[in-house]
Amino acid sequence: MLLYALVSAFSVAAFGLSVTGESILPVTTCKRDSADYSACLKSAIEEALPRFIPGLPEFNFPSLDPLFYEYGKAVFKSGDIRGEIIVSNVTTIGLENTQILDVRANLIDDIFRLEIDTQIPRLFLKGHISLDGSISVFRVNSKGYFNITGDDVRTTWDITGHVVNDTWIIKHFRAFPSFRTFKVHSDFLAEQSKEISDIVVSFVNEFWPALQRAMVPLASKEWDSWLTNLTNKLFSKVSFSKIFP
Ligand SMILES: *[C@@H]1O[C@H](CO)[C@@H](O)[C@H](O)[C@H]1NC(C)=O
Ligand SMILES: *[C@@H]1O[C@H](CO)[C@@H](O)[C@H](O)[C@H]1NC(C)=O
Ligand SMILES: *[C@@H]1O[C@H](CO)[C@@H](O)[C@H](O)[C@H]1NC(C)=O
Ligand SMILES: *[C@@H]1O[C@H](CO)[C@@H](O)[C@H](O)[C@H]1NC(C)=O
Repeated sequence: MLLYALVSAFSVAAFGLSVTGESILPVTTCKRDSADYSACLKSAIEEALPRFIPGLPEFNFPSLDPLFYEYGKAVFKSGDIRGEIIVSNVTTIGLENTQILDVRANLIDDIFRLEIDTQIPRLFLKGHISLDGSISVFRVNSKGYFNITGDDVRTTWDITGHVVNDTWIIKHFRAFPSFRTFKVHSDFLAEQSKEISDIVVSFVNEFWPALQRAMVPLASKEWDSWLTNLTNKLFSKVSFSKIFP
């Protein structure tokens, strides 16, 4: 998801002339008023992505593949599913194969919005999960290791924020991934029994589409803040008019 950040960043020329005290993003720029702006941004993002994947130390910008997520908590209450879920030390692999499907950008009243439609053939996530809640009649209170394999992951990275003093200050980075297939493995042991743990994992795998609809919007609030902070690491140090001339 971080890619979008990269994307936007692209606008700065890859060979970048270094202005004293100002950081240069390794990106090709596109003129906002050009007729083929979207197509130009798309190819600029495709070109820049591989440069962002390993991370950009001068921007304190982390590696995107693998991508590390330290801690996130979501409280959910939706129909039969309620409780609190904490994921930590999550490593995500697969972002380097992100395909850019389409890009849209506009600047209206000093609010710049960049939308990037992406597709990732396969994402693998592993980490630690702690769950305290209930699914239907099953009470679940457990923690343990989990991993998730998702195929054909489609997400629109929707990034918006004001342009102030020639700096794009990102306010929101919304991303609602949708997975074509989704498979969870977990060794977490429900307090009650291994059987309950297995039932929960099967339930999640079976009813993933419904769970996804219920949970992704909740988790997205947390991701929004995380992704916003991450993306601001790039844009707070560069001049907007140079990246998006
Ligand atoms: C996450 O990793 C850190 C550093 O390796 C470790 O101290 C912490 O206990 C881990 N947390 C969980 C929940 O595994
Ligand atoms: C914009 O930059 C000027 C000069 O550096 C500074 O005085 C002003 O406070 C800045 N405005 C904002 C909103 O950051
Ligand atoms: C995912 O987790 C399961 C169950 O803990 C484990 O058997 C499997 O090897 C893991 N997959 C990968 C690719 O690490
Ligand atoms: C993002 O940054 C803000 C301001 O520094 C901070 O309050 C917030 O906790 C951060 N969000 C995440 C998810 O790290």
